[in-house]
Amino acid sequence: MRYFIGNWKMFGVPKSINILNKINSYYSRDKNRNKYRVIITPPYTLIESYSKNFKNKRISIGSQNCYQKEKFSSNTAAISPYMLKNVGAKYTLVGHSDNRSEGDTDVMLKNKVKYALKNNLKVVFCIGENKKEKKNKRTLVVLKKQLTRVLERKFNKNNVIVAYEPIWSIGTGKIPTASELKKTTIYIKKILKSIFKHSSPAVLYGGSVDGDNVEIFKEIKEIDGFLIGGASKSHKKFIDIIKNYYR
Ligand code: PGA
Repeated sequence: MRYFIGNWKMFGVPKSINILNKINSYYSRDKNRNKYRVIITPPYTLIESYSKNFKNKRISIGSQNCYQKEKFSSNTAAISPYMLKNVGAKYTLVGHSDNRSEGDTDVMLKNKVKYALKNNLKVVFCIGENKKEKKNKRTLVVLKKQLTRVLERKFNKNNVIVAYEPIWSIGTGKIPTASELKKTTIYIKKILKSIFKHSSPAVLYGGSVDGDNVEIFKEIKEIDGFLIGGASKSHKKFIDIIKNYYR
């Protein structure tokens, strides 16, 4: 199974559902549709209405983040996994670099993953090195730490997806070389196999993915799909990624 996950970040109002309608109509008719899943993570404000609209449709709706407590608490503006599940979210991202840079620690991320799974949300756990770490050849060390400090064998690996997003690649148009990415993805799967007893959850790539460069990524069979930021805000760009991937 492949995944195409669109991360809208701070984008979207109710009428932006037009974008999803168009993606969904392509997805429902695509002859390759059973080979992949499409998940969109709009901002919190749209999760409930979009989930209702797409309840019996192919697209799934997820959240971009969740709070590190399970249900209710006195944390202003926080949204828990329980609250997300109750408005129809099926997935949540955890550990996106935008949130790590705003203070998410490994302990917080572990709680987010734990409570999201407990509330039957599938977790897309994001990892990635920054420019300096890459320059100093620390990428694999950093990724190993990010994985082993948060993921645990007791977590249900069938409900975990890992998204490898090099921070220097997000929104920059820069992407790793195919050989670099293949090596890194194989390494991530090796670590995941050691955490989860022999088999690895799906591993996605994210960072400046578009309809053109997806051609390069599709050669790397170890990559199970994509986390797509900028290009997910246009139905045409998003559909082009899927089309070119299966061409
Ligand atoms: P990008 O974002 O596709 O715009 O680089 C990816 C992400 O941050 O998830």
